[in-house]
Amino acid sequence: MCGIVGYLGKNEKKEILLDGLQELEYRGYDSAGIAVIEGEKLNQFKAIGKLENLREKTKSYHTEGFGISIGHTRWATHGKPTELNAHPHLGAYSYVVHNGIIENYQELKAELQAEGVNFLSQTDTETIVHLFEKNHKTNKDVFSSFEATINRLEGAYATLLITEADAETIYFAKNGSPMLIGFHSDDVYFASSDTPIIGKATEVYYLEDGEYGYAREGVVKLFNAEGEKSFTKQALTADKISAQKDGYRFFMEKEIYEQSRVMGETMMGRVLDDSIVFDELDETFFKGIKAIKICACGTSYHSALTSAYLFERLAKIRCDIEIASEFRYKEPLLTDDTLFITISQSGETADTLEALKMAKRAGLKSLSICNVDNSSIVRESDAAILTRAGIEKGVASTKAFATQSMVLWMLALYMGQQRNTVSKKVLKTEISAMLHTPKALIVTDELHEKLHRLSKRYLHGHGFFFIGRDIFFPLALEGALKLKEISYMHAEGYPAGEMKHGPIALADSELFTIALMPHTMHYDKIKSNVEELSARDATILAISPLPFDLADDFIQTKYSSHPMVEFFEMMVVTQLLALEISVRLGNDVDMPRNLAKSVTVE
Ligand code: AGP
Repeated sequence: MCGIVGYLGKNEKKEILLDGLQELEYRGYDSAGIAVIEGEKLNQFKAIGKLENLREKTKSYHTEGFGISIGHTRWATHGKPTELNAHPHLGAYSYVVHNGIIENYQELKAELQAEGVNFLSQTDTETIVHLFEKNHKTNKDVFSSFEATINRLEGAYATLLITEADAETIYFAKNGSPMLIGFHSDDVYFASSDTPIIGKATEVYYLEDGEYGYAREGVVKLFNAEGEKSFTKQALTADKISAQKDGYRFFMEKEIYEQSRVMGETMMGRVLDDSIVFDELDETFFKGIKAIKICACGTSYHSALTSAYLFERLAKIRCDIEIASEFRYKEPLLTDDTLFITISQSGETADTLEALKMAKRAGLKSLSICNVDNSSIVRESDAAILTRAGIEKGVASTKAFATQSMVLWMLALYMGQQRNTVSKKVLKTEISAMLHTPKALIVTDELHEKLHRLSKRYLHGHGFFFIGRDIFFPLALEGALKLKEISYMHAEGYPAGEMKHGPIALADSELFTIALMPHTMHYDKIKSNVEELSARDATILAISPLPFDLADDFIQTKYSSHPMVEFFEMMVVTQLLALEISVRLGNDVDMPRNLAKSVTVE
């Protein structure tokens, strides 16, 4: 994902920008660039690939004295990763960097092109700088030209603009994408998250949507739709680790809360009003494909299991799922009309990587769904779709699972489009449910508090059964895995209908059943299964939008009309339950015993 750094002051600007961008590297990017104005001198450098390439290009460049500077790491959304598409984007005498998507850029671009403006890149961002210079031609005041520019932008943006027309000022605006301003004596810093400025700035102001303004001579002027506004800076921690936790107690907690936002990034540029687009896949990618086989481990395997229901339902294509470590040694029968999909957060899981190599040797086309660009699995695959969850530090995977499940849902719909198995009406319903998902993932104080209180009743017992049907069965498996990993208590995920085929023998008051009871999917069936358990005195925690009398504990979810929206909302409940139980037991939430984030041995 894109990252922004800006600096106004007397210190060496190149180093501040490059070091700051380095801190944002984990977000993933495919090109980087910086632009500096010092007195009369304007310098700009861009490089594709890793930041080392940009460091190499700038190694004999040094800045001296007061100046303004902006830098960016780009994650391609519009246009391929090339130097021309890398930020900063240049007009005739101004530079801009931008995170987010300008939704009306095509309209703005057409308008500017009709007036003779020449565009060098394929990006939406370049429209900002040309629009600014066009406004500046008629209105000589730089700030009002900038203000008029951002008033025309629709969509999400965090942007910085510098111009030779006002070589001592950085202009900024934020709407929908994060940006903050850091302060230390007369130095002013900008960044898309606080890690690049920790150790440099001592105070910070986190911009709100709709805010914009400029920084000049160490002073920031801030505006919104109502006019100029005052703002209060807050102290910025010097501790990088606690800053990275953004005030949360654990990385896992932070990552649970982040899910709503990252889901927007996962969908960005891919979920359009009436279609799903994957720039990563060329039009012929699915040619000749008659079936799908997915291999993965752990949580990634659970997202694969969920997707099998979606591929078969939406794309009407056979989809088999295998645990990678089993697949490797079963002498599988593989045919080249099967698309081989691997799913991995880290992209380095040994079993998954080896399964992929085996499939490739058998001549299968491969696609990976991964969170880490340039990881071994991504490099080994014919094509890759990145989940864009951002770095996940908690060993117990949360936002990676959420974004994998979303990408797979999108992919099933995308294949359905291509194979003409989804009607326009279904496409519309699915897309509207997808767009509703970030809302379903918001963690309210009320929900978190309720799970905190309730967790004290679940610190003992002889085991947990998470049960669900259909896509809620893989979610039950995932809920049980989360609890196991960080509470060290025994938990199993089970298809609700299977309980009576054996496990119900375990039922008594010390058996905790976490029942996933969505109203959009087989509600009556699962209700009967839970009643059977309740009749045997099992303790029931029901998660459902429909009140359930037999529940010992009850978490009421919202009524939503789509099972996947219910799925994501219930996923958050199971994650928070595991977290709160683990905290009460005094366990190391982020680094549970015996586990590693990336399993690179078989
Ligand atoms: C999830 O909470 C795990 N820690 C683990 O199951 C993980 O999902 C598994 O090891 C696969 O990792 P990957 O997604 O990086 O391939």
